[in-house]
Amino acid sequence: MRNSEIAIALSKVTKFYQKFQALDNVSFEVKRGDFFAFLGPNGAGKTTTINCLTGLSNHQSGEIQVFGYDTTREYIHSRRLIGLCSQEFNFDPFLTLHQLLVYQAGYFGILPWEAARRADRLLERFQLTEKRNCKHRALSSGMKKRLLLCRALIHDPEILILDEPTSGCDLELKFLTWDYLTQLNKEGKTIFLTTHYMEEAEKLCKTIGIINHGRIVRIGDKKSVLQDKSLEAVFLEVTGPE
Ligand SMILES: Nc1ncnc2c1ncn2[C@@H]1O[C@H](COP(=O)(O)OP(=O)(O)OP(=O)(O)O)[C@@H](O)[C@H]1O
Ligand SMILES: [Mg+2]
Repeated sequence: MRNSEIAIALSKVTKFYQKFQALDNVSFEVKRGDFFAFLGPNGAGKTTTINCLTGLSNHQSGEIQVFGYDTTREYIHSRRLIGLCSQEFNFDPFLTLHQLLVYQAGYFGILPWEAARRADRLLERFQLTEKRNCKHRALSSGMKKRLLLCRALIHDPEILILDEPTSGCDLELKFLTWDYLTQLNKEGKTIFLTTHYMEEAEKLCKTIGIINHGRIVRIGDKKSVLQDKSLEAVFLEVTGPE
């Protein structure tokens, strides 16, 4: 890795979808080993930021680096360092769970015998061994979430990016995922996640970034962001006369 201390660095990133500006001058850094929660309302630009970071979308200006590698000019180096757990289920419908993981490993140059060993280990870890030879449509949505995690981890990346990893999960799976992410972070992996659950951000992360309308509103350590009075909202429920 070229830059070992800063895992992710965005500098003045701007992204347009035709005339619509989804990211406006976005700059922030995520340190190596951090557990970073990226928060913001629907449509704020979280997934767009992740897509730009992982090369799924192009940005029009600004720079993005992953451990010092430019995500456009040095895409292969930067992408290899990232495991992506996307917001949508985007699995090949013709492959079994095991094949799917082995194929994914192949994109990163992992030989089939080693990929098969890793796939079995991850399926066991996420309690999917029983479904090893099924296709993904035979899974419940919580199981699909677990499969996304297995796929993100198959090449043992330095950074794990998770776009709403626990939405739609039952409590047991949520706690299993939290425990596993905490453990991975303790082992030194840098974790970047988006979530709509404050409880999740509060429990897991060290740093919080907030985005709204494509602009960074706040970045800081968890304590200072959560104590920021200017970010507090008051909800009033108004009822009519009885
Ligand atoms: N492919 C696309 N083409 C056009 N507009 C898009 C596209 N993808 C996203 N957008 C727009 O960009 C904005 C940011 O979307 P994005 O998916 O990044 O939001 P988000 O913060 O991830 O929201 P959510 O919490 O709902 O997942 C939205 O206004 C969305 O409609
Ligand atoms: Mg999103």
